Amino acid sequence: MSEAKRLAGEKAVDYVEDGMIVGVGTGSTVAFFIDALAKIKDRIRGTVSSSEQSTKRLQMHGIEVLDLNSTGPLSLYVDGADECDPHKRLIKGGGAALTREKIIAEASEKFVCIIDPAKRVDVLGRFPLPVEVIPMARSLVARQILAKTGGQPVWRDGVVTDNGNVVLDVHNLSITDPVGLEAMLNQIPGVVSVGLFARRPADIVIVGGEPPVVY
Ligand code: A5P
Repeated sequence: MSEAKRLAGEKAVDYVEDGMIVGVGTGSTVAFFIDALAKIKDRIRGTVSSSEQSTKRLQMHGIEVLDLNSTGPLSLYVDGADECDPHKRLIKGGGAALTREKIIAEASEKFVCIIDPAKRVDVLGRFPLPVEVIPMARSLVARQILAKTGGQPVWRDGVVTDNGNVVLDVHNLSITDPVGLEAMLNQIPGVVSVGLFARRPADIVIVGGEPPVVY
């Protein structure tokens, strides 16, 4: 599995062009991308990071991390996913970095998603859907999710996001209308963001393998 992640992460470097500021996601697959990016770090202007975890790894390699407010729109964002359907719609947030990931995806012209083959599904929802929530709204949001979707929200106990919030993982969903569900969950007061990347899916998916599959 980690071999497939490495192959996907390394392949994503093909999309990096000279002078770019690169958006960088979070997770074990992205860690391979960061390590590969380090080898060409003199060719890029810098990066925008989606988490403290990725920032640490980027800085360890001497790669500059910039503030999205000062960069303007990005040409490229590279990130992993927990699930990916044939339309390149994703579930993300297994690493609790979904909100900053969603912000960078929105700011980027091209979103290259790097996954291992186990992440491919026909219908999203086998992986529990992460939802980042303002702490005081945790129970309210959980009740509303149960009532509106029938899915079972489980508090990711002990986890605090980089933004100081909590995460609910919603189990037992079969997501046949990802765009509709994303919009509906976004409307619940207290929800910061939903780990469904359907309204803004990936543009390119790289599935790690020998050779990698790109679609
Ligand atoms: C982080 O919050 C997630 O969105 C990650 O992108 C996702 O969990 C993929 O992680 P791995 O690359 O570690 O499988």
